[in-house]
Amino acid sequence: MTSERSEADTVAYSVENGIAWVKFNRPEKRNCMSPQLNRQMMRVLDELEYDDSVGVLVLTGEGTAWSAGMDLKEYFRENEAKGLGAVRQAQSEAYGWWRRLRWYQKPTIAMVNGWCFGGGYGPLHACDLAFAADDAQFGLSEINWGILPGGGATKVATNLMPMRKAMYHAMMGENIDGTTAAEWGLINEAHPADALRERVTEVANVLLEKNPVALKATKDAVRRVMEMTYDNAEDYLIRAQEAANSFDNDGRKEGIKQFIDDKTYKPGLGSYDRTQQG
Ligand code: ACO
Repeated sequence: MTSERSEADTVAYSVENGIAWVKFNRPEKRNCMSPQLNRQMMRVLDELEYDDSVGVLVLTGEGTAWSAGMDLKEYFRENEAKGLGAVRQAQSEAYGWWRRLRWYQKPTIAMVNGWCFGGGYGPLHACDLAFAADDAQFGLSEINWGILPGGGATKVATNLMPMRKAMYHAMMGENIDGTTAAEWGLINEAHPADALRERVTEVANVLLEKNPVALKATKDAVRRVMEMTYDNAEDYLIRAQEAANSFDNDGRKEGIKQFIDDKTYKPGLGSYDRTQQG
């Protein structure tokens, strides 16, 4: 038996002023990730990725949770009962949309409105930026029910937090609130719940003003160079810059022109005006 909500209804979204607000939409199950939700999320990401009306994607949750991690019944127990093939298929559906999100064409922001557990760390890390309610709760609860933080969660914890904090977080099964999550590096900032959307909108609006080719190249570069030696990173960045230039030479030239010739802005203080681009 699976839940009664239709697959299409496990994810909700709307697009407003260039921002796609995508929601985990199983509030009655605290937005835990079932195979249906994972498949639907991939469809929604697919639909929005090259939609010209979308400049930034925000991932948030309906109700009291961001996501209570994997669905212990529908993702774990029911698939384990079917056998290894079903387990692997469910994994690839979940990991597939997280990977898609990690390398998404548009900038992405996690807006963590409530509970965020275990498997939820996959999409949390996949988003480029993360903002949470100060009373949101983050936990690697795997240890509390007898597994290790798999599905990338251990890697996420060690990527984002210093080793002692990651170890404590993974071994103790205690939750931290949004304020502590910001201090530990899991997210960028924590805000009172009623101010969260306003702050995320403000950040998204800044991103909407930037050159989108440069933004995609920048977000990829940050993730790629983390795993490179200095020399490899230097080489990668030369190639990435050249590739970005070949796709957006005019934007880059316009940025230089508005500063050097027109004197209409200063790059140290804000973005050039993309609407002036010929
Ligand atoms: N898997 C399956 N069902 C879940 C999950 C989950 N991860 N989380 C919540 N639910 C279900 C509950 O079973 C319950 O279903 P029911 O109404 O049919 O009984 C419903 O969602 C509501 O959950 P409650 O526990 O009643 O909600 P409450 O607000 O009191 O508690 C909390 C919220 C703390 C998030 C709690 O639901 C919980 O501990 N969930 C599990 C969190 C977790 O450890 N997730 C797994 C992480 S490990 C991993 O992802 C690999």
